[in-house]
Amino acid sequence: MAIQRPKGTQDLLPGVVEKWQDLEQQIRKICREYGYEEIRTPMFEATELFQRGVGETTDIVNKEMYSFLDKGDRSVTLRPEGTASVCRAYVENKLYGGPQPVKLYYMGPMFRYERPQAGRFRQFHQFGVEVLGADKPIVDAEVITLVWDLYNRLGLKGLEVHVNSVGCPTCRAEHRTKLQEFLAPRREQLCKDCQDRFERNPMRILDCKNPTCQEITQGAPTTLDTLCLECSEHFQELQELLTAAGVRYKVDPRLVRGLDYYRKTAFEVLVEDIGAQSAICGGGRYDGLVQEVGGPQTPGIGFAMGMERVLNAIYASGQVTERAPKEFVMFIALGEAAQKKAFSLVSQLRSKGISASIDLLGRSLKSQLKTADKAQAHYAAILGEDELTRQVVILRDLALGEQLEVPITDVLDDLMRKWEEEV
Ligand code: HAM
Repeated sequence: MAIQRPKGTQDLLPGVVEKWQDLEQQIRKICREYGYEEIRTPMFEATELFQRGVGETTDIVNKEMYSFLDKGDRSVTLRPEGTASVCRAYVENKLYGGPQPVKLYYMGPMFRYERPQAGRFRQFHQFGVEVLGADKPIVDAEVITLVWDLYNRLGLKGLEVHVNSVGCPTCRAEHRTKLQEFLAPRREQLCKDCQDRFERNPMRILDCKNPTCQEITQGAPTTLDTLCLECSEHFQELQELLTAAGVRYKVDPRLVRGLDYYRKTAFEVLVEDIGAQSAICGGGRYDGLVQEVGGPQTPGIGFAMGMERVLNAIYASGQVTERAPKEFVMFIALGEAAQKKAFSLVSQLRSKGISASIDLLGRSLKSQLKTADKAQAHYAAILGEDELTRQVVILRDLALGEQLEVPITDVLDDLMRKWEEEV
């Protein structure tokens, strides 16, 4: 039996990959404009990094990690997200010693052992940004504005930015007590996961999708009810800045993110029309994480977006990017001598950065022309035995259907001139 790809993974084939490249290009452009630099961290890390960073009570660490012992008996894990790795790299490379804040971005595959469904994969890709070393609300606002700006540039419709404050350890302790008091009388009726969460991380019960849990938590105290003065001022200022930047947002007191490191700001961007997995971005502030992974006390904030979901949203909003023609000129050579000459011409064009190609299968004129048409090449350069004897090339403009004969000695200059006019 033929071997199949692992469940929850995808092959991205030519035709689709171009969409990814367009998206990646837009991302790199906006990051440059906002002053974010790329960081690349390993695809696997010591398991302990995620246990400590993402948190022992989370679904990610408890159920979804691809962890294994390597041949040296070290437990390593395919990264389920990027934030913990970026904080580790910040500490390990002493980036805290340089100018602050450090504004970074990354793109790449992440791995979670989840139940695959539309928009949810086991290997998926995130674009994320992290700002380390700055604690003011204006940083939170910049990060949210960046993703808002990106989605608008991509032409996404039906966007909803949800923001909340989950408080700091001080005000969260008060929330925990109040929430447990509220839930205690109906604790037995909560779903099994939420019964576990009751002691370990009760805040997450507010986020449960089980209808009974949702009914039980109606009217439950939210983190906004217990914010301390500092957290409350921070949240207020963030909202004012978002309004000033023209970001349409909504305060969602029940937004509780699935990772343990968040403090103060938490946010998500949702989009209509792409089905159940509508969260196309999630993020927040994590002022304790750098210290948690062994560094100095450093504030941090960031987000990550699921690139598969964003691409889905782009399709759903009808934004189709025109594919650039693949080749500028395709040489159609017939006969061995003509093929050698054409190969030399193609090589010279390529070395000048002009996209040119040549048939590799020795096919007939008709089928080579068909290929050139299909590839949306701008020109076909036809060189048969007769043309070779007469030292000419037939240059056909495939879009206009017009053709002319060019002396073989002029064809390179001619094509280069045409190329320059085009680009
Ligand atoms: P997260 O909410 O776990 O946050 O993931 C961020 C985004 O990644 C989600 O909103 C979703 O678009 C996408 N995503 C997550 N899991 C999957 C999956 N199985 N399949 C497809 N897409 C998925 C984080 O990862 C944090 N590190 C974000 C962050 C950065 N917070 C601060 N800085």
